[in-house]
Amino acid sequence: MSFRIMGTGFYVPDKVITNDDLSKMVDTSDEWIMQRVGVRERRVSVDMTASDMAAAAAEKALASSGLSADKLDMIIAASISSNDLCPTVAGYVQMKIGASCPSFDVNSACSGFIFALDTAVSFMERGCAENILVIGAERLSKIVDWTDRSTCVIFGDGAGAFVISKGDGYLSSKLYTAGGNDIIEIPNYAGESPFYNGIKLPPYIFMQGQETFKFAVNKIVSDIKEVTEKAGLSIDDIDYIVPHQANVRIIDYASKRLKVPKEKFYVNIHKYGNTSSASVPIAFSELAESGRLKRGDIVAMCAFGGGLSSAACIIKY
Ligand code: UT7
Repeated sequence: MSFRIMGTGFYVPDKVITNDDLSKMVDTSDEWIMQRVGVRERRVSVDMTASDMAAAAAEKALASSGLSADKLDMIIAASISSNDLCPTVAGYVQMKIGASCPSFDVNSACSGFIFALDTAVSFMERGCAENILVIGAERLSKIVDWTDRSTCVIFGDGAGAFVISKGDGYLSSKLYTAGGNDIIEIPNYAGESPFYNGIKLPPYIFMQGQETFKFAVNKIVSDIKEVTEKAGLSIDDIDYIVPHQANVRIIDYASKRLKVPKEKFYVNIHKYGNTSSASVPIAFSELAESGRLKRGDIVAMCAFGGGLSSAACIIKY
């Protein structure tokens, strides 16, 4: 048993921060950011939390699915930038949309949304749920060091959501972690315990860019090959690839190595930057809204990032 995507939706905050805006804050330029990353602008939340954006995306996904909140059997949210560890993002969403089902968060950094989708499938297979809301939501501007040009030009805020119901559209998946690897590290609040004698790091995103880049290119290629094979398909059967929007050069490498034309990759990093766990559901929802995606299309989704982690899946829309 698997699922069918009934509805999708995304939300990004109104405030646009361009590369030229950032050039006034740190030593960078539109030229460098476009060439090395592919981001032109990103959205930044002024007053909304990750949960607020998650709820806004969820409302849109519910509206596009035709289901009401009371029909949901579960809400699963992925986030690394919620305001509160408790209540969870999913719990806030439950309250805001008026649902009464169980809700909880998962954390697998940028791969979190696909981990959450795969978790949702397990509940469906056990017969515990028919309709599940799955969300990726991030307010990364909260954990970005705005004086660090190597990270502040990359990230953005936003949320994306899917409403899924029991069906036959989840063809294969793969989850991967190389646990405890700190080439991407986001320290949590260290606390004020008078008994703790360890290191206290500021709660910002630290990323060794080139190491992460190599990991990303290798995983995007090997994960897509693996899920395609597992689904009994060939690469040519894939209509669209919706990758994590981390760097347009990663997508270019993947296109060349997989021999998949660039047009099959959905790319919106220039508009929103890297929104971590929100990037795949935002990109998928935008593709669906564009009208280009047709029912029955085969779509590969893939993500990679902190953990280290990576995830990929193939769905029939
Ligand atoms: O979402 C999680 C997964 N994340 C990823 O997959 C990210 C993967 N990594 C990347 O996308 C890239 O490594 C970055 C975009 C993070 C960095 O690009 P890079 O081409 O690897 O640059 P670099 O770190 O090797 O830096 C090259 C130069 C350095 O200057 P020197 O030492 O050569 O003089 C940096 O100081 O570029 C400099 N630099 C910048 N210059 C202008 C770094 N950031 C900037 C900047 N503006 N914003």
